[in-house]
Amino acid sequence: MIELGVNIDHVATIREARKTFEPDPVWAAVLAELAGADGITVHLREDRRHIQQHDVERLKTTVQCKLNLEMACDEVITEFACRLEPDQATLVPERREEITTEGGLDVVGQRELVANTVERLREAGILVSLFLDPEPPQIQAAAEVGAEAVELHTGAYSLATGEARARELERLTAAGAEVRRLGLLLHAGHGLHYRNVAPVAAIPEMRELNIGHAIVARAVLVGMERAVREMKEAIAAGLA
Ligand code: PXP
Repeated sequence: MIELGVNIDHVATIREARKTFEPDPVWAAVLAELAGADGITVHLREDRRHIQQHDVERLKTTVQCKLNLEMACDEVITEFACRLEPDQATLVPERREEITTEGGLDVVGQRELVANTVERLREAGILVSLFLDPEPPQIQAAAEVGAEAVELHTGAYSLATGEARARELERLTAAGAEVRRLGLLLHAGHGLHYRNVAPVAAIPEMRELNIGHAIVARAVLVGMERAVREMKEAIAAGLA
């Protein structure tokens, strides 16, 4: 079975656009879980542009399925994670100016920092996954620093078309085989949507897909008619 981790960051993005209380990502997490989500994924970014620390704390006591915290290798956030003890932590690179996580983690270039973070999280009983580009040296380094899972970055695949997309799928498939050869769990995510997810789900031994933007984007649209009807009713109630 492949687990679906629903990333609810962008529910918080809508809330933060007004710095208000709605929509609450915790409510969204509950609805996602009721609909069959196997996990809830959030990225607590250093700049706190969407998910806030209190969201993660409330999710920890609300969500019954897997809670997966995406995080940078940073002292403050590592301490927070070790205290909170989410089921899983996914280490990602982070740059303030990026719109979203742009590339995989450079484990080869920051081996000591990543190894140290992995060790501390694992000591706290948290399963550690590393978000990597589908490159064998990075995957081998992930195994060496003690990670238990690798999330393959599907961003390049998602952006490619035609033959380039077929090539990106081949890269992901080969990288997936390397992840499994090293005895690590295979996850994938980033940029996946309703029309491109199936070939990634078909990669042998895929265990978890983390998908956010496409689900939140569709939720806004499939919920629009009902939301407008309910507002018309609320206005009409004032005239009755
Ligand atoms: N996996 C990781 C590691 C991510 O950083 C993100 C984006 O926050 C996702 C999955 C989800 O990507 P998307 O929102 O494009 O589905």
